[in-house]
Amino acid sequence: LDYEVILLAAGQGKRMGASRNKILLHLIGKPVISYSLNTFLNDPACKHIVLVTQEEEQDLLAAMVKKETKKKNCQITIVSGGCERQYSVYNGLKALLDQKNIVMVHDGARPFVTLKQLKLLHQKVQETRAAILGVPVKDTIKRVIEGIVQETVPRETLWQIQTPQAFYGEDLLAVHVRAQQEEYLGTDDASLIEKYSHLPVSMVLGSYENIKLTTPEDMLIGEAIVKRKRS
Ligand code: CTP
Ligand code: MG
Repeated sequence: LDYEVILLAAGQGKRMGASRNKILLHLIGKPVISYSLNTFLNDPACKHIVLVTQEEEQDLLAAMVKKETKKKNCQITIVSGGCERQYSVYNGLKALLDQKNIVMVHDGARPFVTLKQLKLLHQKVQETRAAILGVPVKDTIKRVIEGIVQETVPRETLWQIQTPQAFYGEDLLAVHVRAQQEEYLGTDDASLIEKYSHLPVSMVLGSYENIKLTTPEDMLIGEAIVKRKRS
């Protein structure tokens, strides 16, 4: 069974504080977005990449994609994003080839997802219809209100959630439509499935390296990860 992916690149990268969108910043010689783009291009099960971009960056990204996709058996469509991540996903959903297909949603700012993780996630979504990547929380987590610790939250059941997140197109579209109607913004796609459907969402163990590049320190960690992978 094949899948399609919505690859998100339409943010502003404000917290990175760079002069341009962080997905275009170079990480050891390659733009951040090209890492995950290539991983999906190299997955034989991935049949369609919907790259969601800002309108102003579409030409630039189209040129980049053209270089990467020579000879690859995977279609690429570029669509415009919205002013919130959730709206960018929604625009991506409308561009899927078939709503009956499996769809993964991935942050373009997460360059280090691996083929092995894609395979595990793809297997799990075929079993349970909804599956997401993440890792158990390592730090102690406390609830704090106005500078005062209220409690230490038991950590055993807490996971940090990553992307990709995998669903069936029709399921994800239905919950996005509901969220739009209620003007609800979730922090990830699984949270909409949790709120507006009865589908249980399965957790798949990812890797602590599957970080999202968010602030400038993350670029340093990212460089270290690329170097380690190459050696
Ligand atoms: N994204 C998107 N459309 C938006 C907002 C975000 O496609 N309206 C994408 C980003 O490009 C990124 C991913 O969603 O790949 C995760 O979002 P985040 O890390 O918050 O990126 P930005 O929104 O770009 O960063 P910031 O919040 O610091 O501005
Ligand atoms: Mg953001």
